[in-house]
Amino acid sequence: MLVLGIETSCDETSAALVVDGKEVLSNVIATQLDLLKKYGGVVPEIAARRHTELIGYVIKEAIDFAGKKLADIDAIAVTAKQGLIGCLLTGVAAAKSLSYALKIPIVGVHHIEGHIFASFLSNPDLPMPHICLTVSGGHTMLVYVRDYCQYELLGSTIDDAAGEAFDKIAKFLNLGFPGGPAIDRLAAKGNRNAFRFPRPLLYADTFDFSFSGLKTAIISHFKENVLKNEPLPIEDIAASFQEAVVDVLVAKTLRAASERGVNAISVTGGVSANRRLRQVFQEKCAGAKLMVFFPQLSFCTDNAAMVAAAGYARLRLGKADDINLNVLPNAPLEVSCAGQD
Ligand code: KG4
Ligand code: ZN
Repeated sequence: MLVLGIETSCDETSAALVVDGKEVLSNVIATQLDLLKKYGGVVPEIAARRHTELIGYVIKEAIDFAGKKLADIDAIAVTAKQGLIGCLLTGVAAAKSLSYALKIPIVGVHHIEGHIFASFLSNPDLPMPHICLTVSGGHTMLVYVRDYCQYELLGSTIDDAAGEAFDKIAKFLNLGFPGGPAIDRLAAKGNRNAFRFPRPLLYADTFDFSFSGLKTAIISHFKENVLKNEPLPIEDIAASFQEAVVDVLVAKTLRAASERGVNAISVTGGVSANRRLRQVFQEKCAGAKLMVFFPQLSFCTDNAAMVAAAGYARLRLGKADDINLNVLPNAPLEVSCAGQD
């Protein structure tokens, strides 16, 4: 089954053609990096307008690159849940128009469900059940993936997402936006033990996360330097900050795996591209006899191939939607088990 995936939940306009939920023929991603740099982050209204300008071209490019025609598409999967409302609406409107015109099924996907499926694209043998940590600019979620389309949210961030913390510390260090890749690069040259920053909620009896206090701690630690206009040890700050975030993410995910008795972990979302995070997960999972899986880099950040893969699984389970598909910007992940209601 050839599925056209469409993703417009935040700041990437993406379309992909994927066969049977695993063979990616195309995965076109138009980033809004120019706008992000100009405004220092995502401006919802501006992001939505950009999606509207780009969506037609991006879908056409995905079809052309795959060497297919509109008539070859069997179904359309689109991110309909969780994201910015104006952005989601653009993707869903395009998907509904195509579904109506081509008389093919449409299925709405939860954005986090998409990230969960990103791992399957790179690792078809990822076992069920497993624990999935999804870490990006908008979310930090620990999910028990019982089976396809059966999720239990174990914990999420109570304030900033992990990627947001990376972006805010990068802003403090004048590294530009998005900050994650810049911190990742700088940290490789720094000493991760130079500063002992807080590890929020590390030992708390919860799977929730909190990263805004860490950002505040770092900014107040270097307030004097900033006031006196003294240069900051940016490489050591980047490495020590990154270590604090990695410690918390890895420890909680391993604890969740042990509590649920699973033997596999998957780490997805933009922050899963982080090299130190991958390294520590590999080391700790080897020690705990756990398997750990990451998507390839192009499937870590927002993309439509992961949406097509999730949509294919939903279609196989008979969970198609119809022309009444609506967007649900704040839908919890569990809602996607039940469908649109
Ligand atoms: O999944 P994504 O594209 O969008 C959201 O759904 O939010 O993730 C983007 C986030 C940004 O916060 C970015 O700074 C972060 O992922 N990121 C990284 C790295 N690459 C991207 N964070 C840490 N290390 C990286 N290498
Ligand atoms: Zn995302």
